[in-house]
Amino acid sequence: MRKYNVAVIGVGAVGKEMLRCLHQRAFPFKEIRVFARSQRDITVEGIVYRVEAIENAQFDNIDIALFAGTEGEKGASLTYAHKFVDKGAVVIDNGADFRLDPKVPLVVPEANREKIFNHQGIIANPNCTTIQAVVALAGIYKELGLKKIILTSFQATSGAGRKAMETLWEETKEIVKINEGINELPQRKKLDKSYQVFPCQIAFNVIPQIGSFEQEGYTTEEWKVVRETHKILDDNSIKISATCVRVPVFTSHSEAIYFETEKDTDGEEIREILKNSKGVKFFEDNTYPLPLDVEGTDLVYVGRLRKDIYHKNSFWIWVVADNLRKGAALNAIQIAEELPPFL
Ligand SMILES: NC(=O)c1ccc[n+]([C@@H]2O[C@H](COP(=O)([O-])OP(=O)(O)OC[C@H]3O[C@@H](n4cnc5c(N)ncnc54)[C@H](OP(=O)(O)O)[C@@H]3O)[C@@H](O)[C@H]2O)c1
Repeated sequence: MRKYNVAVIGVGAVGKEMLRCLHQRAFPFKEIRVFARSQRDITVEGIVYRVEAIENAQFDNIDIALFAGTEGEKGASLTYAHKFVDKGAVVIDNGADFRLDPKVPLVVPEANREKIFNHQGIIANPNCTTIQAVVALAGIYKELGLKKIILTSFQATSGAGRKAMETLWEETKEIVKINEGINELPQRKKLDKSYQVFPCQIAFNVIPQIGSFEQEGYTTEEWKVVRETHKILDDNSIKISATCVRVPVFTSHSEAIYFETEKDTDGEEIREILKNSKGVKFFEDNTYPLPLDVEGTDLVYVGRLRKDIYHKNSFWIWVVADNLRKGAALNAIQIAEELPPFL
């Protein structure tokens, strides 16, 4: 069996999860090269990796490059993705830089696996919030069509990277310390801003802003849900609206999703579709998945199926998944697993 040279670019929250996934899923790699801004050694699951400084590195003989660096103008993807492609690698990118480029397939294997094979060197992983919603809704869309999706997310701090998780931890410790010895409800104190990466305190709070504000008062994260879902399902007619909220959770995003189907249906049919949907574990009756319980696992968990009591063909579901795994690293590696016969 042929083995492949793999590169992981970025060793933050997602990059480290990619290294774990490559081993856990027994990806047929010959060599794993790891790149970040600076050179050092890191240890993940007891394995020591030499991190190469990307700036002056050579990218020869790499078959698949998994990008988990920061996004934007000076980020890893815009600076280096095409350099890897020019040297013959297929790039799978986790950031937003290429997702809406018409030449770049945007893939959730459970929904549009076939798009993987139309790539021109770069394949994009959708945003974590979009991935888990699409996995939950793909079977329903295929069988019954979708007219409308209204989504409210409850997103973990790890969705904003390693420093964001540290911020939640540091703020929590500081508030606990400030209130030590006080036998009343904790007092609010102004926190040291030095470690904050959110627009306001995240510990013991929720923040209804992820990203910056764009058209019509929606945030960048909310527009990602709309535009990426349209691209993945190849259907701009679905009316999609999102409210994305940061919550003081370390890992795993939760979403309350309301949807209306195109065809007439009932709760029983939706239940059967969800039970048989690829990548989904369905929770019966009044049981439900929790972010703490799904951390470190690979499926998208769906519970609390209810019909809208006023509108036909309309339902609510509660959807939870590990944002670092299915929402990022795992989805990228599932795409990579499809590539070998064509490399
Ligand atoms: N976290 C999630 O749930 C999630 C989900 C979906 C998609 N994503 C996307 O995945 C990407 C990585 O996210 P993350 O949460 O892992 O971020 P992170 O924890 O902040 O880590 C970023 C990593 O990228 C490296 N990096 C930054 N700029 C670079 C450059 N110019 N060249 C090479 N390496 C560079 C950093 O290197 P140093 O360590 O040397 O500083 C660091 O290792 C982002 O694009 C993010 O939007 C994240």
